[in-house]
This record gives sequence, structure tokens and C-alpha cells, in this order.
Amino acid sequence: METSRGIVVEKQDIAVVAIDGPSGTGKGTIARQMAEYLGWHLLDSGALYRLTVVAAQDSAVALDDESALASLAAGLEVRFASATDGNEQIFLGQTDVTDDVRNEETGKNASKIAAMPAVRTALMELQRSFREVPGLVADGRDMGNVVFPDAPVKIFLTASPEERAQRRHKQLKDKGINVSLPVLSADIAERDRRDTERAVAPLRPASDAEILDTTSLSIDEVVERVKKIVARALSDR
Ligand code: C5P
Repeated sequence: METSRGIVVEKQDIAVVAIDGPSGTGKGTIARQMAEYLGWHLLDSGALYRLTVVAAQDSAVALDDESALASLAAGLEVRFASATDGNEQIFLGQTDVTDDVRNEETGKNASKIAAMPAVRTALMELQRSFREVPGLVADGRDMGNVVFPDAPVKIFLTASPEERAQRRHKQLKDKGINVSLPVLSADIAERDRRDTERAVAPLRPASDAEILDTTSLSIDEVVERVKKIVARALSDR
């Protein structure tokens, strides 16, 4: 690819920080803060699976129709933006679909369609297209293992299931959404099971990933540790 200054850079020379882990580990927040700190691009890969669900619902495609879902995934017209208050905005074509993308039901359905090999393949190119100069912070489940196996920095975040359910509960409550803690815990356990047991790209740390247990850490503490891991890895390049 060619930069705006006309310098040719090979994709594999563009650094990627891959941040993987199950739901509720703070991946999204950490990745966003790291991308801002580094001044790099951000890929929220989970949003692409969620958007595929939203696109399917918009065009009345059944959530068990793998080939139709794969076609939708391959043609997603997505745009990530920030509202004036700094909140994220996700557009599908011209439509702001942020609330649909972020709701719990969409997350649950995303984990179902994410088990379909054709959907995963269809989203591969789109995910890799986010790798642009000066660098990319990518969060998801298989960033380090499958999508960017050559990423120079791979971090796998974990936290106990109880802590993850509590975090999710607080996050939703702050948005005015009341979901009972036991229901959330059961949903998280079910999602973990589907993500780790699926045949394609199951959720697991890359062999060269640094594992970081965030159970007793604040977001700021995790960000500080991630910054150190990134600085060390990039200085070794
Ligand atoms: O991270 P988020 O909750 O937005 O992801 C929604 C679902 O999409 C996950 O439960 C997972 O099944 C799937 N996913 C995936 N691979 C990724 C990112 C998300 O399978 N890289």
C-alpha cells in the first residue's frame, strides 16, 4: 500500500497490537484507549459480527442461513465514527445502528453466527483492511491467532466469570438497562462455551500471547500494563 506521502509500505510491516479475550474483560475499552494513546487505527472485530446480525435482520435473512449471512458479511458497508459527545457511532450504509449493534440480544446472536466458517471467512478481508499506517490496535477473539498471526504484540485478557458478569451488569446499569445478574452470568457462560468450543477459530490465547488476568485490576491499571507490554515488544522489533 502507498501512504499519503507516496511511501510504499507492505501490509506485514505495519504493526498490529492484537488484544483478545472473552466478553467482559475490558478489551473494547482498553483497545480504544491504546489506539488513542498510540495514534493508531482501531478495529473492533466483534462489532463486525454484530453488524452482520443487524444487516440480516434489516434484510430479513434468517440467522441460520450461512451462505446468505456470508454474502451480507462480505458486503458490509460499515463506518465507525464519534458523536460530538465522544460516544461511538456505528453506521451501516447511511444508518446509525449503534444501539442495535450494542444490545445484548445482538451479542448473543453474533456469537451464534460467529461459529459459521463461511461468515468468518467473509469477514477476513474486511478485518485485514483496517491494517493501515501508522498501525492498528485490533480487539476480538482471534486477532492474534487467525486474523493477524504476524502481529508483533499479542495480549490475551482474562477475568473471572463472576467479575465479568459484574462489569457487564454495571455497564448496562449505567446505560439505564436493567438485566439481572444471574441472567447475565448465564449468558456470559453460554457465550464463553460457544466461543471456546466452536470448530473454527475457537477462543484461546495465541502461543506467543502475553496473558493478563484483569480480575483485580482497574481499567487504568490494565492500560498501564498494556502500554509496558507494547513498548517492550515494539522496541524489540
Ligand atoms: O466482542 P463482542 O461481544 O462484540 O463480540 C460478539 C461476538 O462475536 C462474540 O461473542 C464472538 O462470538 C464473536 N466474535 C468472534 N471473533 C471475533 C470477535 C467477535 O467470534 N474476532
